[in-house]
Amino acid sequence: MSRMIVGVFIVLFVTAFSYFVYFSIKSFNIDSTQAQESYTKPKYHLVLIPEEINNDYWKLVEKGARSAAEKLGVTLEYAGPKQANLEEHLTTIEMAAAAKVDGIMTQGLSEEQFTPLINNTIQKGIPIITVDTDAPKSDRLAYIGTDNYYAGLLAGKALLADTEGEVNVAIITGRFDATHQKLRVQGFKDAIKEQERVKVTTIEDSHITRIQAAEKTYKILQEYPDVTAFYGTSALDAIGISQVLEQMGKTEDIYVIGFDILPETIELLQSGKIEATVIQKPYEMGYRSVETMVQILEGKAIDEINHTETKVIHREDLPLQENEILEVIQK
Ligand code: BGC
Repeated sequence: MSRMIVGVFIVLFVTAFSYFVYFSIKSFNIDSTQAQESYTKPKYHLVLIPEEINNDYWKLVEKGARSAAEKLGVTLEYAGPKQANLEEHLTTIEMAAAAKVDGIMTQGLSEEQFTPLINNTIQKGIPIITVDTDAPKSDRLAYIGTDNYYAGLLAGKALLADTEGEVNVAIITGRFDATHQKLRVQGFKDAIKEQERVKVTTIEDSHITRIQAAEKTYKILQEYPDVTAFYGTSALDAIGISQVLEQMGKTEDIYVIGFDILPETIELLQSGKIEATVIQKPYEMGYRSVETMVQILEGKAIDEINHTETKVIHREDLPLQENEILEVIQK
């Protein structure tokens, strides 16, 4: 009897595994018959896997990656959760690995969950590089993106320079479990720690959505009416924060510093609804990640750490320089 149960389990396992491999291959469009027609086949099949494919910030990374892919003659897929979801993100990496793509570019969102998977995949012969968020303890071959601790430091220094007297800061961070978000908070706290007049009152997370950033802003203002500044650490946070401040007629009284320059962020800066934002280079991250992956596949030497530019901009810095506009206006 028990042999029969074991037999049934084996059959179920083999069937489930075959389905997984079959659908992985189908989702990542690997077609073995194309292999013979190598003269028409793009050189490599790469996958960019972000935490949220429909996010405007990630669409800029995708844009950069696509233009490098076109220039270098490689196929690029862009896959991942529609809305941030750690499990789905990890499964997408597993599926890309099962489909035997040539290279994976993804975030190293948290060492705990990502490092074992990254190392495992690399051991199977599929190179991985991290983009936007690094997992430095993993075996990833390179990192391309912002120095997130430094970006947090810059945000803290900007707030110090822009404000006077007592400041009670509320932080809205993209996600508590993501390394880059933690570094942006830590850098900020370190920048202000010597200054008695500036204190962090509370910290909430937005799940990288503007709706939750808005909800948390409302909640914070109810619980801590003495908050005089907000710091949003992911691309849509400052947008959600300023929406609530406007509704509550508090735009003038509360200082806001956010992250990134999406078209909406530029409008908010222009109209004085937010004071400053830390800019990153999403387009360049995407472009360089494809370029670097191709160099790896061609056996060329690469730098392990490739920090892209980050700086704080205020209303006075508008209009942006041409190279910065490329990051916002999708060509
Ligand atoms: C971060 C991304 C994140 C995005 C969310 C950006 O600031 O660099 O990792 O996914 O915000 O909107």
